[in-house]
Amino acid sequence: MNLTLQVNGQEHGVDAEPLTPLARVLREQLGLRGTKIGCGNGECGACTVWLDGQAVCSCLYPVYRAADGSITTIEGLADAGRLNAVQKAFIDHGATQCGFCTSGMIMAACALLAQNPHPTEADIVHGLTGNICRCTGYRQIIQAVLSVAQQGNA
Ligand code: FES
Ligand code: FES
Repeated sequence: MNLTLQVNGQEHGVDAEPLTPLARVLREQLGLRGTKIGCGNGECGACTVWLDGQAVCSCLYPVYRAADGSITTIEGLADAGRLNAVQKAFIDHGATQCGFCTSGMIMAACALLAQNPHPTEADIVHGLTGNICRCTGYRQIIQAVLSVAQQGNA
């Protein structure tokens, strides 16, 4: 099935079975490999992208349903090569180790901050419960997101 996807502000023609997970199409057809596939069943958050500004698990999202919306991946966050505030904060706080969770974690954190620009630490912990990190112990991740919330420049 031929579909047109709007990804990071650009139109892309793809050819995929309608129920193919969006994450696979992003990675395999568009080469956007920043979106990871970990569990493949909605439990780890590594595949988090935005659809019309909402964080979704792209490992579960059928590509045909995404064709109606505007998709943003981690590759679309930086503005003309300048990292956004959350990306910078992850670096500054050492919030990434192996990096496998990082794209999804940042996409989820940015979506959280868009909905609630001044979350408490508890709000951040709650907001990121769908994103699993095996390496960092979460402390640096939460501190990074909190620092952006406190600067108010997400
Ligand atoms: S890969 Fe999608 S939630 Fe784990
Ligand atoms: S940095 Fe390795 S899983 Fe999070």
